[in-house]
Amino acid sequence: MLKRILAPVDFSAQTQKSLDFINTMAPCGIDEIILMHVVDIRILNDTSMMFEESLDEKEFLKTCTKNARIKLENLANNFSNKKIKVSTLVHNGVPFSVIINEAQKLDVSLIILGHKGHNLAGELLIGSTAEKVVRKSNKPVLLTR
Ligand SMILES: Nc1ncnc2c1ncn2[C@@H]1O[C@H](COP(=O)(O)OP(=O)(O)OP(=O)(O)O)[C@@H](O)[C@H]1O
Ligand SMILES: [Mg+2]
Repeated sequence: MLKRILAPVDFSAQTQKSLDFINTMAPCGIDEIILMHVVDIRILNDTSMMFEESLDEKEFLKTCTKNARIKLENLANNFSNKKIKVSTLVHNGVPFSVIINEAQKLDVSLIILGHKGHNLAGELLIGSTAEKVVRKSNKPVLLTR
């Protein structure tokens, strides 16, 4: 029986694959899934260069957080297995680091994430977030394909 699964999602095509996989695991016994998105604060450095005037970082993060909440709620509502409790969480930070810390704090039984996310073009077998979580987390990690 898995008490609590942390499923970090980036809303890429891999997200649905991870959710589908969790569904197939349901007969193993899952109490709760926490769908989490991390608004990557590193995009502020990249994005601010595109603006002539200084970017209102607080406002930008607020908008990203609000949109992420809506998207997570949609995913949670559409999750087909109604026997499993699904909750949602949004944080700001560097994704791999937030994922590792939250997994520890929430004392999850397992972290399930995609082997890749938005950057499908890369030559690497797994994305940088996935790679760091696998390498540094002391919680069990499962990567979906
Ligand atoms: N911002 C995020 N918030 C929550 N989960 C994330 C986030 N970014 C990535 N993930 C999780 O990590 C998985 C792998 O994504 P990752 O970022 O490692 O690969 P990528 O986007 O293809 O490559 P890279 O980001 O290294 O260029 C995703 O499928 C998702 O489960
Ligand atoms: Mg990524």
